[in-house]
Amino acid sequence: MKVDALSVADLDPAVALHLEVLDMEFLSRFGPRFMRAYYRAWESSTGALALGAFEGDQLAGVLLGATDPAAHVRAMVRAHGARLALHMLGAALTHPALARDLVTTRALRYARGLGRLVATRLRRATPTAPSTGGPRVGEITHVLVDSRYQGRGVGRALIDAAIDASRAANVDELVLVTPPDLAARHFYDALGWTAEGSMTSRSGEAFLRYRYRLG
Ligand SMILES: CC(C)(COP(=O)(O)OP(=O)(O)OC[C@H]1O[C@@H](n2cnc3c(N)ncnc32)[C@H](O)[C@@H]1OP(=O)(O)O)[C@@H](O)C(=O)NCCC(=O)NCCS
Repeated sequence: MKVDALSVADLDPAVALHLEVLDMEFLSRFGPRFMRAYYRAWESSTGALALGAFEGDQLAGVLLGATDPAAHVRAMVRAHGARLALHMLGAALTHPALARDLVTTRALRYARGLGRLVATRLRRATPTAPSTGGPRVGEITHVLVDSRYQGRGVGRALIDAAIDASRAANVDELVLVTPPDLAARHFYDALGWTAEGSMTSRSGEAFLRYRYRLG
């Protein structure tokens, strides 16, 4: 098995795997067209981690994250925000239950993000994040392994590769959240991540927080 950066050719299998393994996730409800645009945005953005684990030609697992989350979000919104919003809107218009959940949990936040993007474009300015002088914190947002390959070290290999890439990018620590009802928390425990209690996201969902300090 080898872990490598996802290429454009890996996007369709990665999306299919994501929709199969994380079918309960909110983003998955927007369907393959939105998810392909989402993966394309990760695959091509500054500061992003978009890794695949390959068994021969077969994509066995995927990891998404960022060594510089702020730079990654800025690059992603600037280059892909409009396309992502259109796909999201298209899916919501044809799925009333999804539209209702989008409006009640996220619409205001997403609209503010797009508003900032438009304002930035009008000013032709590039927003810069203030440097806090604190530790550089990267994040892992998704890890998923094909059910046929689970329990064989694929998830560990993806996390190890993300840690190596983060060290190379001078990241001090990595953080992630996982739903409390997923067995994944035992996976992060086994890999030496520190549990830091629960939190509620801005969209109202409960998560457990984990941290890994890169020494
Ligand atoms: C969670 C997941 C990514 C783990 O990947 P994996 O390839 O099956 O895990 P690995 O084989 O690399 O296991 C690494 C370690 O974690 C442990 N582990 C993995 N899943 C576990 C589970 N469900 N319960 C207890 N321990 C687990 C393994 O025992 C192993 O420990 P060891 O090396 O000390 O024996 C994978 O099962 C998955 O995709 N699950 C569904 C999606 C998901 O929950 N993603 C995470 C939230 S976004």
